[in-house]
Amino acid sequence: MLPHLIYGGDYNPEQWSPDVWREDAQLMQEAGVNLISLGVFAWAKIEPAPGQYDFTWLDQVMDLLYTHGVRVNLATPTTSPPPWLVRLHPEILPVTAEGVTLWHGSRRHYCPHSSAYREHAAGLVKQLAQHVRDHSALAMWHVDNEYTCHFGECFCDASVAAFRRWLEQRYGSLDALNEAWGTAFWSQHYSDWEEIMAPRRTPASINPTQHLDWQRFCSDSWLVCFEDQKTILRELTPDTPITTNFMGFHKALDYWTWAAREDIVSNDSYPDPSDPEWLIGAGMVCDLMRSLGKGQPWILMEQATAHVNWRQRNTTKRPGEMRLGSYQALARGANGVMFFQWRASQAGSEKFHSAMLPHAGTDSRVWREIKQLGTELGRLDALLASHVQSDVAILFDWENWWALEQEGKPSNDLRLLPQIVAFYAELFHRNITVDFAHPEADLTRYRLVIAPHLYLVSDRAAKNIERYVAQGGTLLMTFFSGIVDGNDHIRLGGYPAPFRDLLGLWIEEFAPYANAQTNGVETVDGQRFTCDVWSDVIHLTGAEMLAHYQADYFANSPAVTRYRFGEGVSYYLGTALAQDGLAWLLDQVCEKAKIHHAHHMPRGVEVTRRSDSAHTWLFVLNHSDEEVRIDLPAKGVDLLSDAAVQTSLHLEPKGVAIVQLAAT
Ligand code: GAL
Repeated sequence: MLPHLIYGGDYNPEQWSPDVWREDAQLMQEAGVNLISLGVFAWAKIEPAPGQYDFTWLDQVMDLLYTHGVRVNLATPTTSPPPWLVRLHPEILPVTAEGVTLWHGSRRHYCPHSSAYREHAAGLVKQLAQHVRDHSALAMWHVDNEYTCHFGECFCDASVAAFRRWLEQRYGSLDALNEAWGTAFWSQHYSDWEEIMAPRRTPASINPTQHLDWQRFCSDSWLVCFEDQKTILRELTPDTPITTNFMGFHKALDYWTWAAREDIVSNDSYPDPSDPEWLIGAGMVCDLMRSLGKGQPWILMEQATAHVNWRQRNTTKRPGEMRLGSYQALARGANGVMFFQWRASQAGSEKFHSAMLPHAGTDSRVWREIKQLGTELGRLDALLASHVQSDVAILFDWENWWALEQEGKPSNDLRLLPQIVAFYAELFHRNITVDFAHPEADLTRYRLVIAPHLYLVSDRAAKNIERYVAQGGTLLMTFFSGIVDGNDHIRLGGYPAPFRDLLGLWIEEFAPYANAQTNGVETVDGQRFTCDVWSDVIHLTGAEMLAHYQADYFANSPAVTRYRFGEGVSYYLGTALAQDGLAWLLDQVCEKAKIHHAHHMPRGVEVTRRSDSAHTWLFVLNHSDEEVRIDLPAKGVDLLSDAAVQTSLHLEPKGVAIVQLAAT
């Protein structure tokens, strides 16, 4: 898209006067900024009254930016409808499950099913695209903003009607819907489409398949809003790439489906600087983004330079941490680093949010760090065509996430992300890069596939996973997997029905633990680890036991197993192991799968690789406050300092090196 790594941020010139715009353009140039997200919240400025468009200010800003070498990632400003639209069509306002209307005065106050909203948004997008289509500054489209941030499920009457239409399309007949929803239970049988409701507040737990379909429907509905705009933009500006900014592991939207409709994946990431483990969660999000885009470069569209303003206590990134977070994104496949926002606001609810240009102006730490980063990124064009490779995939599916975390489970404390983080953290500490994969995706290129809590599994996914192992893959599956089909109906015949052959075992029952209850697991060679949350009561039908439970009525029965299936191996973990237990398990699983620790590093030193057909670059990020000395696999040149590096690299606290390795 640009011949350089992207560097920039959100720019809201409508909050400032033209003399400030001129200063902004000069300072952007000084900082090495080459792309700006413009107009994200500018609907009221562009269309101050119904059908009256004012593009003069936008033209001036785009001209000014272009003459300063800055291109524009132009937003369709549809995320915050102007007050006149609410006055004209109050029915665009969203309604909660309890029937409460959410009013304007902040943002995202619209229902995705409102035809008035969609018509006005389409009109605006058309005018905007027609107006700017030939402007040389236009580089990319930024559609809406963070779909479903703040609000994702509208329960108004229009939404209920849209849900019914979506269900008719999905099922074709009421018989099929009744079957899928299991409406024989609690007298829920439907005899007319008009009887069907959105899962508004009910006295007791809602039909789980109804709820699951609702979550599918909501994700699809917002996608329709995105597609409305994409169709217009594609027609008027066929060569301009289109994105919309994601929010990491965001539950409301099935990003696998969404990413397939985008030209490039982009993401907003706001790790909490007060969390000493922020780099793990942030790294995991980077890996998800790369995976969503099928390994293609993605863009870190928003991050804070220092602090946000929406936490209870908005701690700030310490010197060097913004730089580290930015390089982490590059190290994990991004080709662009951007911020919210360019200039800190003077008014409004985000006036205490950090920015590239803080209230203090250019005589500030943040500005100096921003300038330094911009200068450095300007020297890294060599990375543009490189990619990140991974030998390990963690299976991740939004439908499974939705179904797993509905109420009514054996343990309602079972949550998907903490389990994933537990595995991810162990791999992160070993500097093993991880992809995320949909359970139906081609898994053949991975040496190891981890399936945490794959509760809902389609027939296709089950076959895919079985085939992967049969053909030589290594699988590590954890408890409460393979339990239901796509309708959230139990797969009968002994858990986990689709994986019993593959795992060489079956599970008679689950034994969820009380809060704070723990148990012990002992390995065949006598090591002991704590476990909690849950135990599967497992019977072996071929698998070997690697560890057993120490206590309770299932004491001595298997907790961890291994089974040779076809050309491959499957491991099964029937409980939540404490971190040292997971480390023990992953050590042997990685050994078996021939995944060698990429690099033995001191804790806090993150190492990844990007390669193209000719070169490999080793990214070494020292998140710690200690100086470190690190052995490299070969000598090379550090792109950031241009210094030759021998096979031992010295890094200062919070230091970064990108070593182009010499061919060995
Ligand atoms: C994002 C949003 C931005 C800004 C930012 C503040 O969610 O896209 O517009 O509000 O948060 O951290």
